Amino acid sequence: MNIKQIQSQADALLIRWDDGTENRFHYLWLRDNSPEARTASGQRLIETLSIPDDVAPVSVELSGPDRLTIEWGYDGHISHYPTAWLRTHAYPAPPMSSSRRLWDAGIQSALPHMRYPEIIAQPQKLRQWLRWVHDYGFAILHDTPIVPGTVLEIVRLFGYVRETNYGPLFDVRSVVAPNNLAFTGLPLSVHTDNPYREPVPTLQLLHCLASELEGGDSILVDGFNAAETLRRQFPAYFELLSTQPVRFRFQDEHNDLSAESPVIRLDTRGDVAGIRFNNRSLMPFDFSPEQVAAYYQAYRAFARLLQNPEYTIQFKMQPGDLFIVDNERVLHGRTGFSSNGSRHLQGCYADRDGLYSRLRVLERDMEGRG
Ligand code: OGA
Ligand code: ZN
Repeated sequence: MNIKQIQSQADALLIRWDDGTENRFHYLWLRDNSPEARTASGQRLIETLSIPDDVAPVSVELSGPDRLTIEWGYDGHISHYPTAWLRTHAYPAPPMSSSRRLWDAGIQSALPHMRYPEIIAQPQKLRQWLRWVHDYGFAILHDTPIVPGTVLEIVRLFGYVRETNYGPLFDVRSVVAPNNLAFTGLPLSVHTDNPYREPVPTLQLLHCLASELEGGDSILVDGFNAAETLRRQFPAYFELLSTQPVRFRFQDEHNDLSAESPVIRLDTRGDVAGIRFNNRSLMPFDFSPEQVAAYYQAYRAFARLLQNPEYTIQFKMQPGDLFIVDNERVLHGRTGFSSNGSRHLQGCYADRDGLYSRLRVLERDMEGRG
């Protein structure tokens, strides 16, 4: 795309492109984003406040077929803007198209899964596995070593473990001992983990070391899909769940963790950005009596959606299987299990930023080669 015409306005440069479109670039914006004021790695060397309010060019010229050169009056700085760069950064930016895919029980027959030997041997397989975490909010891995601590090794493939009061990893060892509630075979309804933390861990991994029994199947549900369904079917419930904060808490001998959040968190565009839902650590509602009654209706409608088999997937982890979930999007749970045999999972937390960074680097490297 080439520049057809440039027009200097009072506070901005108007650029007409040869496809007939035009963009305005404010002088302050142009000086602030001078390519010459960034290091090779892209870090800005200029302080925004050091630029005068009325900054303006003393000269603007097309210094080549694909380069705009501006000389600035107040400090004599010269900026060279590649036209492709101007085009890419023109504002307003077009809405980003996301590869995120909301899902329901329909994906049961084609779950995003891969084998551990593949992802450690082939970067493009690791890239695919990580992309699934972004797109679906979860991914499954088979044939991992049936060795305690493996879950930590898997996190190291893309990021960093988020250590908590449960340690770097925690054991979910449900050998049945009916006199100890922690080790019963009770089902766990779908939930996000650690909603009583601020910030919450954004990724959770569970790795299976033993599952010699009936039941104990894993259940996953796309909380974003359930939230969007609620928004369509019961807008008033959605409004309540996305604005009214509730409290979550965890207490034991050494810890007293507490955090407040709406069950459905929205970003500034109104898009669903995070789900916090956990029956076990939810504190009693304490809003006004009318609000409590209304809130229960909304909350229970959302819970029904989350537990509706039309939205959930279910699978049984075998030793060596692992799943990772985006803990602010995909809720996990398990079915109950019988008292014969043993079951041992190890879990840990990590964060999305590291995973997305690794994903971008892998995609960049692959594009570079292609
Ligand atoms: C957990 C959990 C599920 C299971 O430990 O956070 O949800 O399958 N476990 O035991
Ligand atoms: Zn859990």
